[in-house]
Amino acid sequence: MPSADDGYRLYSDLADWWPLISPLDEYAEEAVYLAAILSSTAAVPVHEVLDLGSGGGHIARHLKDKFRLTLVDISDDMLAVSRRLNPECRHLCGDMRTIRLGRTFDAVLIHDAIDYIVTQNDLARVIATVHDHCRPDGIAIFVPDYVKDDFRELAGSGGGGDDGTGRHAMFRERTWDPDPADDWVQADYEFILRKADNSVEVIRESHRLGAFSRDVWQRLLSNAGFVAGSGSPGAVPGADSADRALPGRPPTNMFLAHRRP
Ligand SMILES: C[S@@+](CC[C@H](N)C(=O)[O-])C[C@H]1O[C@@H](n2cnc3c(N)ncnc32)[C@H](O)[C@@H]1O
Repeated sequence: MPSADDGYRLYSDLADWWPLISPLDEYAEEAVYLAAILSSTAAVPVHEVLDLGSGGGHIARHLKDKFRLTLVDISDDMLAVSRRLNPECRHLCGDMRTIRLGRTFDAVLIHDAIDYIVTQNDLARVIATVHDHCRPDGIAIFVPDYVKDDFRELAGSGGGGDDGTGRHAMFRERTWDPDPADDWVQADYEFILRKADNSVEVIRESHRLGAFSRDVWQRLLSNAGFVAGSGSPGAVPGADSADRALPGRPPTNMFLAHRRP
């Protein structure tokens, strides 16, 4: 099975299908919530945000009216998709484990791209990257799809976006855990791509996705020098009344951390 380091087809030769496979509208409600967190939870006013693993720029599209965004992704193909959607944002190619931009931001966000970090060693490297790019008193937000404590095998489907080209895409997925002793689960995808000439291609690809325990998240965030803000690292969104009062839809999992002043 290829790993993220080999480059998954979804983020290389299939990148152009991203808006159809993972429609922009599906990010809207969660982006409203994340914008509210950024505006209400940070100890400093948030203007400049670094989005690591920004992909096709769908989250960015919903945040860019409120914040100045710098978007980093390891895939040039995904950056090209995002540049078309978000031409006013700064785009940079880089690996969230190693990139150093030599400056800080009011906030650093890693949305679902954190799923592609599958070892504790790499998670520690990513958290160090985030810490180095977060200004004192700034906020870091991580939004993994899975945490080990709650993981349950799932099957689902999605897609259906429309980019006006006559193409259509949907996918099916099964996500399961081949070995509960490690920190990743496996998503088996089947992408069904109907091209503008009505020909159909079916592509199957398995991805390794990180599923770390909350204890691991808390330990690595603390080791890096992050402290709990309101909404401690590991907090479950919606679990307290302050979270429930925020607009939009909270992500299933979210880890919030503040850099020491
Ligand atoms: C699910 S997509 C992100 C979608 C994004 N949230 C959006 O709004 O369109 C995951 C992205 O993570 C990127 N990625 C995976 N490993 C990475 C790494 N080590 N550093 C930076 N980006 C990475 C992939 O290239 C891909 O674009």
